[in-house]
Amino acid sequence: MTRTYRITLLPGDGIGPEITGVAVAVLKAAGQQLDVAFEFKEALIGGAAIDATGGPLPEETLDACRDCDAVMLAAIGGYKWDTLPSDIRPERGLLGLRAGLGLFANLRPAQILPQLIDASTLQRDVVEGVDIMVVRELTGGIYFGEPSGIFETESGARRGVSTMVYGEDEIDRIAKVAFKTAQQRQGRLCSVDKANVLAVSRLWRDRLTTLGKDYSDVDLSHLYVDNAAMQLVRAPKQFDTIVTGNLFGDVLSDVAAMLTGSIGMLPSASLGEPGQPGVFEPVHGSAPDIAGQDKANPLAQVLSAAMMCRYGLELPEVSDSIEAAVNSVLDQGYRTGDIMAEGMTPVGCQAMGDALLKALETSK
Ligand code: IPM
Ligand code: MG
Repeated sequence: MTRTYRITLLPGDGIGPEITGVAVAVLKAAGQQLDVAFEFKEALIGGAAIDATGGPLPEETLDACRDCDAVMLAAIGGYKWDTLPSDIRPERGLLGLRAGLGLFANLRPAQILPQLIDASTLQRDVVEGVDIMVVRELTGGIYFGEPSGIFETESGARRGVSTMVYGEDEIDRIAKVAFKTAQQRQGRLCSVDKANVLAVSRLWRDRLTTLGKDYSDVDLSHLYVDNAAMQLVRAPKQFDTIVTGNLFGDVLSDVAAMLTGSIGMLPSASLGEPGQPGVFEPVHGSAPDIAGQDKANPLAQVLSAAMMCRYGLELPEVSDSIEAAVNSVLDQGYRTGDIMAEGMTPVGCQAMGDALLKALETSK
């Protein structure tokens, strides 16, 4: 019997519609082979939503995301909306979605694929075998802390204020996700903070250390964020799973991504409480400079669809089949511009999609 899953699709801005087009086709084809059907409902977010409705996250979109099995998002933003006031910028839509769905855990894997080692700016022996999972707290910390704003003092001078705050409960729930993630990987968890300076980080470290006693099979270590950034480019293989707060996770996940050569390859999963729909999206942005030119690399979006099947829908077999197709097209030498190397076959977004469908077809 065919199992049917309801997916809310948020193509967003820039290259979003092109890459989700490919991911939807791949998902449908992979599902069909395994008796799984996907129904898509498209909704607006980001700049596209601002143009159509005046705001970056219409109520209708949030409702559609609450009422589905999983959300597949591409990317938001673009030059056109860069000068809008902060409360109606496209990024607000993304933050509102994270908060609205309670997506406190963001999993960002950075795994170097053997076919792309030479696309990394770091030396082969430094990055070969890198396989890191960044677990980023996503609905707290300085992104959401109050007070926040630009305030005028009595003298009329302005002060910009953002507050980094974490309650114990927020730290505990992300820590548990991270410990469990580490258990399923190499069993090593590095918690990243700035406990030498920030009180909020001292509480973070204290909770991680306490909870660590319940996970005796996980080897817990701590690093200050500046050192962690340095270690990530110096000797990335020392890391297995990293857990950190919202801001540090934003920065470190971009660093980790670049170890793999192209941010155009990396998927992510944002998860809330069990049973609630998660959001699955590429780590890269909307790339307005190449939008609509059939140049985008759709593989991060396709791998996000695979992550959706693995972490959001409990369909590991569909996930395996999509990941195998990605491996196959890379083995065959197909490359979009961002991962192009000598001797490889250059393709656009659409042709990469066709190659994926063909790979699925021949794997039957
Ligand atoms: C990310 C992005 C977002 C963030 C922006 C677009 C709000 O950089 O998902 O990493 O800072 O979280
Ligand atoms: Mg970021």
